Amino acid sequence: MLKTILHINPDKTLSHIAPEIYGQFSEHLGRCIYDGIYVGEDSDIPNVKGMRKDVVEALRALHLPVLRWPGGCFADEYHWRDGIGPKENRRRMVNTSWGGTVEDNSFGTHEFMELCDQLDCEPYIAINLGSGTVQEAAEWIEYMTADGDSTITNLRKENGRTKPWHLKYVGIGNENWGCGGSMSPDFYANEYKRYQCFCKNYGDNKLYKVACGPNAEDYNWTKELMSRIDHLQANGISLHCYTVPGDWEHRGSATDFSDEEYYSTISNALHIEDIIKKHLAIMDEYDPNHDIDLLVDEWGTWYNVEPGTNPAFLYQQNTMRDAIVAAASLNIFNKHSDRIAMANIAQVVNVLQAMILTEDTKILKTPTYDVFQMYKEHQNATLVESYVADAANRINEPVISYNDISIPALSESVSVTEQNGQKLLTITLSNTSLTDSLSVELELPIKYSFCGKASVAMLHAEARAYNTFDDPDRVRAFETEEDWNGNLQIVSLPACSVCRICCYVS
Ligand code: AHR
Repeated sequence: MLKTILHINPDKTLSHIAPEIYGQFSEHLGRCIYDGIYVGEDSDIPNVKGMRKDVVEALRALHLPVLRWPGGCFADEYHWRDGIGPKENRRRMVNTSWGGTVEDNSFGTHEFMELCDQLDCEPYIAINLGSGTVQEAAEWIEYMTADGDSTITNLRKENGRTKPWHLKYVGIGNENWGCGGSMSPDFYANEYKRYQCFCKNYGDNKLYKVACGPNAEDYNWTKELMSRIDHLQANGISLHCYTVPGDWEHRGSATDFSDEEYYSTISNALHIEDIIKKHLAIMDEYDPNHDIDLLVDEWGTWYNVEPGTNPAFLYQQNTMRDAIVAAASLNIFNKHSDRIAMANIAQVVNVLQAMILTEDTKILKTPTYDVFQMYKEHQNATLVESYVADAANRINEPVISYNDISIPALSESVSVTEQNGQKLLTITLSNTSLTDSLSVELELPIKYSFCGKASVAMLHAEARAYNTFDDPDRVRAFETEEDWNGNLQIVSLPACSVCRICCYVS
């Protein structure tokens, strides 16, 4: 058994954890929107205004804060006017980003806003900068958010929506260094400034504008972009960072992987922390007051698609390995919540590291779903200081070594909320070892003690275990209540596990 000590200081509050860190992403890609979310009102699958009831209900339980749409790469070929008005008149287009399927535009702005209403979440719209026009972008914002008697707002009213919608988050372009137009950073920065200038605030609606930031380790993009924009033009810049077990040519199977691939996946996922730190350091040079946030608005695992499925649909299974990636990534985002304002795992249903998979009338919740369920208590809480080992060294030990890969056994973060005059701690832990359990001694400062019942949720299974439509609860978190007292408490984490503890301290 491995052992470590986690020091927790409830008095050392560090940053507010934006609920948006627990955000999601939906794209017109494969079976994410159609089948996964939207089946149409005439479907035999129970739905409300075309949205699958089972999927909406499952997502509501996650307290999903924000949903990004319509892409992804698709955003830069999407023309919003194609997706409004009577469905039979909507333009049928070829989705050239994702397999050349015919997109009938039956899910458009009104349907997306309806979905956000049903999910009780903020919409996050990605505007077409790659193949659109400034006028088109400006009019989309007007269509969604303006009141009054203009031709555009009257069009919205004719289409059934009298009041403007509330819209805060607007991304201007997507991956414009790649699928969004193969632009150089200086060219994009100029385009961004022109587009953002015409994305207006109407009435009380205040936009939060996001510029297309870097791909993973492209530090030059961040430097060039940050040197050309300021906080009056952008509230945040995005970062896209996916985890692959090897490299993009050798992504491997989602379910059938070696121990080495497991450890390389976790190691690559943990590497996002270095990437974030380096981008933040560059941002600091140009924005020392931290007026511009970082939004990791695409992240997650990316494997080969499930055998027999369309390679352009990016449909992959989801194992306990993905749960460890999700837990470790969310702990990292929590730890950097002073600068990270949002993160959106890719993607919510049926694509990449999904929360939910669907097959006709059936759905299953993946192990990643359970992690988001367990971590939801961090939303809107305050990050507090927590660290492994002694105060002088803060070395995250023990370390797991496999061939030339070394990763810390423990991933952790701790937050606090005040409830009825008491402090409620949420402690999230993950043991990354495939073989050894990990004993974690939680240590509070001497003046504090754990008081009363602790709710302990545990998710653990063999790394390759996953849920199927015939066995949908094979990997599932379970919750127990334990009596905790004193300022020291030992938690035993089985190999390959994720744990969330909620307990009062005083
Ligand atoms: O999430 C799938 C794709 O990954 C998105 O469309 C794109 O932005 C990224 O490359």
